[in-house]
Amino acid sequence: MIAGDGGAGTIASRPLLRPLSSWIPARRFRGPILGGVQRHGRTQSLPDDATGVAAFVRDRCRLLPVPDVPGIRLYLAADVYTVWEQTERELGGREVPPPFWAFAWPGGQALARYLLEHAETVAGRTVLDLGSGSGLTAIAAALAGAAAVTASELDPFAVRAIGLNAAANEVAVEVTGDVLDGDGEGAEVILAGDIWYERRLADRALGLLRRAAERGALVLAGDVGRAFLPRDQLRPVASYRLRVAADLEDKPVKDVQILTLR
Ligand SMILES: C[S@@+](CC[C@H](N)C(=O)[O-])C[C@H]1O[C@@H](n2cnc3c(N)ncnc32)[C@H](O)[C@@H]1O
Repeated sequence: MIAGDGGAGTIASRPLLRPLSSWIPARRFRGPILGGVQRHGRTQSLPDDATGVAAFVRDRCRLLPVPDVPGIRLYLAADVYTVWEQTERELGGREVPPPFWAFAWPGGQALARYLLEHAETVAGRTVLDLGSGSGLTAIAAALAGAAAVTASELDPFAVRAIGLNAAANEVAVEVTGDVLDGDGEGAEVILAGDIWYERRLADRALGLLRRAAERGALVLAGDVGRAFLPRDQLRPVASYRLRVAADLEDKPVKDVQILTLR
């Protein structure tokens, strides 16, 4: 479900894919388990206590198969609001974005499935996965035979979740921060799973995808029809009907498209 309608101020009342910027306070991700700021490319907040964050992710999630994406297991949470509240409590009550990293989002699920079914898309190539979350599509690219895979994320919990999930699936995935102002770090394939839910993110991502395509990269997005999907700039190449996490979406099964630039 994208928009909850519980009581004002409760975490359950917050829409999950409302503008992400509205979740990020000025002094973000400082608390008991987080502290340092490491610069990489643009700006990235990374945890000082990586072990503590990884333990937090492992303790709140279970290693489970991803529905309709055979062969991949991820540390997944059963209930988004519980993990969201636990994360904010861990950070001393600071308001943070939803725990995107604890779920396989429909766009990422479809993209992962597509890569596993069309391994030739990424086999032997370098791959960049934008807004990687759990690392699902990055892991699928690695399993499909990519030469090297980099996941871009700015959430420190996601950074650790990607590491745990990559290890659980016995693949190597490098993690970098926000690279949206570049042209894709030289990667031959750029993946974008479920990142069209916030205007600024969508505008910046589209800019990167255009610049990457201009230098010859293959661009693939997976999306369920989020608010800022630039439909006029993309064309579908495949579609999947997938089971999705019940408390994230309005239906248990959704049609998800794989798209590339026109
Ligand atoms: C809805 S989740 C999708 C996760 C994953 N691709 C999937 O489909 O399961 C979007 C992710 O984008 C990340 N994100 C948002 N802005 C970003 C940015 N500027 N650079 C890198 N990642 C970003 C968020 O932290 C979040 O994990």
